[in-house]
Amino acid sequence: MAVCLGIAILAGAVETNAAPIVIRFSHVVAEDTPKGKGALLFKQLVEERLGDLVKVEVFPNSSLYGDADELAALRDNKVQLLAPSLAKFETYTHQLRVFDLPFLFDDLEAVDRFQKRAKGRQLLYSMEQHYILGLGYWHNGMKQLSATRALRLPADAAGLNFRIQQSDVLETQFRQVKAQTTRLAFSQVFEALASGQVQGAENPWSNLYSQRFHEVQPYITETNHGVLDYMLVTNARFWYAIPHRIRTQLEAIIDEVSYAVNREAAQLNEQDRQRVAASGRSQIISLSPREREAWRAAMEPVWRHFEADIGPDVLKAARASNRREE
Ligand code: LMR
Repeated sequence: MAVCLGIAILAGAVETNAAPIVIRFSHVVAEDTPKGKGALLFKQLVEERLGDLVKVEVFPNSSLYGDADELAALRDNKVQLLAPSLAKFETYTHQLRVFDLPFLFDDLEAVDRFQKRAKGRQLLYSMEQHYILGLGYWHNGMKQLSATRALRLPADAAGLNFRIQQSDVLETQFRQVKAQTTRLAFSQVFEALASGQVQGAENPWSNLYSQRFHEVQPYITETNHGVLDYMLVTNARFWYAIPHRIRTQLEAIIDEVSYAVNREAAQLNEQDRQRVAASGRSQIISLSPREREAWRAAMEPVWRHFEADIGPDVLKAARASNRREE
């Protein structure tokens, strides 16, 4: 009741206020990445189509908020749009842990199918009680393992300390190969790798290249062992307070931007893979099917550990997305 009243008051305020609605969009990556480009395209289309009604301000590279405080800032309405990686919502829901399970999705197309089908769509609303509303999924890409030594088999990772995102699943994944983990905000990763605080990490090519991780990680193993994607989220109270006719236009723009981001993400990652290879700073290691199978066998037990937490129905739907027809 109090919540409804709050929304109604806010809605009234927006309707009667002649000043434009301001949407601050904060993120932690570089502008020349799938997420960075998506944020700029959103700003451009809003400016073109909603003119003086809505103003978008984009803050890349953790310049406004970083991993540690961005979701709290969203809930306090200090920022209105974020696209955190799906690993970063642990405090608000455990269902999204499904995206971090290693070797669950065969490729980015399977991830895409899951996100578009009913169960994946439902997860956009999994944090509603915290007033965090999912507006869409944005791809980055499949993760690769980087390290100070060549990782061909799981035993090669033993004893190394890997930087991870804020995620119990990822901690368990590395424990399976007898590695240690340190949770660090994205903005701290380069320094931690350069100083030797951690010796390894996992990232898609676009993050590896744009953050120059390849310059301080002499080996990158092309494992494609998991996905790093994003949920575009807003503060539900803010969103539903936007007058309906403006909100529906914003939602149409978001659909268009999501389509563009998701269509181009794989290509951007491939381009950055080639840039990393051309730099000569890091050796890219391709795994034989037998070697990749060894990583899968070592890491897959993580699924059982988190199945109850995620929900067997969600896990089943995610696995089914590896098949085209469903
Ligand atoms: C990470 O922390 O490694 C990623 O979530 C950063 C990002 O937003 O791609």
